Amino acid sequence: MAKPKVFVSRIIPEKGQKMITDACDAEIWQDDQPTPRAVLLEKIKDCEGLLCLLTEKIDAELLDAAPKLKVVANLAVGFDNIDVPECTKRGVLIGNTPGVLTETTADFAFTLLMATARRVVEGDNYTRAGKWLTWGPMILVGQDIHHATLGLIGLGRIGSEMAKRAKGFSMKVMYYDPFRREDLEKELGLVYADLDTILRESDFVSIHVPLMKETHHLMNAENFKKMKKTAILINSARGPIVDTMALNDALRAGTIGGAGLDVTDPEPIPMDHPLLGAPNCVIAPHIASGSVNTRSNMSIMAAQNILAGLTGADMPAPVNQADVRKAAKK
Ligand code: DGY
Repeated sequence: MAKPKVFVSRIIPEKGQKMITDACDAEIWQDDQPTPRAVLLEKIKDCEGLLCLLTEKIDAELLDAAPKLKVVANLAVGFDNIDVPECTKRGVLIGNTPGVLTETTADFAFTLLMATARRVVEGDNYTRAGKWLTWGPMILVGQDIHHATLGLIGLGRIGSEMAKRAKGFSMKVMYYDPFRREDLEKELGLVYADLDTILRESDFVSIHVPLMKETHHLMNAENFKKMKKTAILINSARGPIVDTMALNDALRAGTIGGAGLDVTDPEPIPMDHPLLGAPNCVIAPHIASGSVNTRSNMSIMAAQNILAGLTGADMPAPVNQADVRKAAKK
């Protein structure tokens, strides 16, 4: 029997890649830049499976170009790059990679918090620029992390792990989430509050919500004004949750004290973007889930999603499998 055709839009860690190449007639895009859109549309025209990244937009145009497509596996937990209703309407299954990246991503969000608060990047630049001439009581002083207040916007998997890390630093942790987690409030001593209270009282505000219509530009000029002048914003979720130009203005005007970002809008951030010149802003290139083990586990989960989706079995991390099945029964 002919193996199903699958396109993999970037080189992925070996374990997941091997699972796909063993079971499928797979083509793997070899460049380290995204498959150009026109090429992607051509490549998937006979494919039943697509393993893609958050850099690929999965929309009606792409689905039109891939009439045989059965399953899309996103190598990410977030799937705001995918038009889910459109896929569901056409019976195309979607899988993502939740769980396997939770702690690694929280580790990095906390790293960004610490790096920004304690001016690690500035310190490294200072040393390399030959400016370290003596010990000085006023040199590169930052904000304390221990006993400070952390406000979490979103207490899902990654937000909860962030809370655990903060507790290890004796921080007071407040959170806002549409779903209250009284179990975690008790277990970790968290304080539930509305968004305005979080913004007003936190020394650090860290975003852990998905990008949706409701969260687009959640952090805007008005909300920056509610924060402490010393407060630091951490974003390891999605760039467009923050209004980038409003953040740039807030940092330059001293409305807030700093920002640690793993995601930006646009992404990647252009080299002439004003945010690159804003004070106290640490910007990483969307690497929060980037540990060797986690990326390997993400590749395995994405491969399992593809293989299960192709055979109609239960996907380990389905986004719309229940809805697709329900629609098929009608
Ligand atoms: C995701 O998984 O959504 C990240 O942004 C990439 O790990």
